[in-house]
Amino acid sequence: MEIVFASRHESNPREWVAALQQALPEHQVRLWDACQPRGQADAAVVWAPPADLFAHEPQLKHLFNLGAGVDALLQIPDLPADITLVRMEDGGMAVQMAEYVLHYLIRESRDLGQYADLQAQARWQPLEDIDRDAWTVGVMGGGVMGARIAQVCAALDYPVAVWSRSGRPVAGAQSYGQDELADFLARTRVLVNALPLTADTQGILSRAVFDQLRPDAYLINIARGDHLVESDLLACLDSGRLRGAALDVFSCEPLPPGHRFWSDRRIRVTPHIAGASLMSLTVQQIAGKVRAVVRGEPITGIVDRMRQY
Ligand code: GLV
Repeated sequence: MEIVFASRHESNPREWVAALQQALPEHQVRLWDACQPRGQADAAVVWAPPADLFAHEPQLKHLFNLGAGVDALLQIPDLPADITLVRMEDGGMAVQMAEYVLHYLIRESRDLGQYADLQAQARWQPLEDIDRDAWTVGVMGGGVMGARIAQVCAALDYPVAVWSRSGRPVAGAQSYGQDELADFLARTRVLVNALPLTADTQGILSRAVFDQLRPDAYLINIARGDHLVESDLLACLDSGRLRGAALDVFSCEPLPPGHRFWSDRRIRVTPHIAGASLMSLTVQQIAGKVRAVVRGEPITGIVDRMRQY
């Protein structure tokens, strides 16, 4: 197989090519070169691929995405209909996302932000004990990421609810199906978004949803910025409907200087790092799938274009 690595995002594309080549010595891996397209690649490994990749590589049959979310790929106007899209499945991302969620969950439920402020004033002042039952974590999305987040929170005895299309059971959590959003929201204090971005989920983090959460709710968005209606978040923070938010993803990335989120004390901003694709695990997963494809075996992680993930 000839494999082309074409990402406009990674700062170290040569290292990725070297790692892929080392993992797949029986195949040829090369870096996409816009000035010298070769037109013979069978597969591409991509994240935000260059617009002309498909015109210059007409033989591509598989597109391995370096991330779990394929929303941006599906927006590419020239994306050929017959290419099989393959998303990353976990690859070390789920545990990072679980850590990220736990960090903010614990910071809020144990008042650690307030204790930091008290230290700044040299004040020794114990706050109220935690009432764990009042801190139900509601995870939107029951895929690999959502399930891992749910399990990790449940392991610390937080009540956990998971809302997903299928309503599939997740160990340690109460599952809610597509039509049970209202019941799910009514229980939730810390709302965690781990949904794929699709036409159905765009803008789902809106006032209509925030208004149904338990009082004093907190939002953690680690999926996509376009899930969130930013003005609704700000309005709900101002009205006291929400106590705060941890945001890792934004409609416009990098978040522009001067954006209100940067300076709002109720909002924690991180630069899309909640779940990074770690090179060694990612390469291992893609190499395994390439070999399976060559052997004619089925692989997992194939994107259903109708479902949009
Ligand atoms: C990251 O954003 C991913 O989609 O994996």
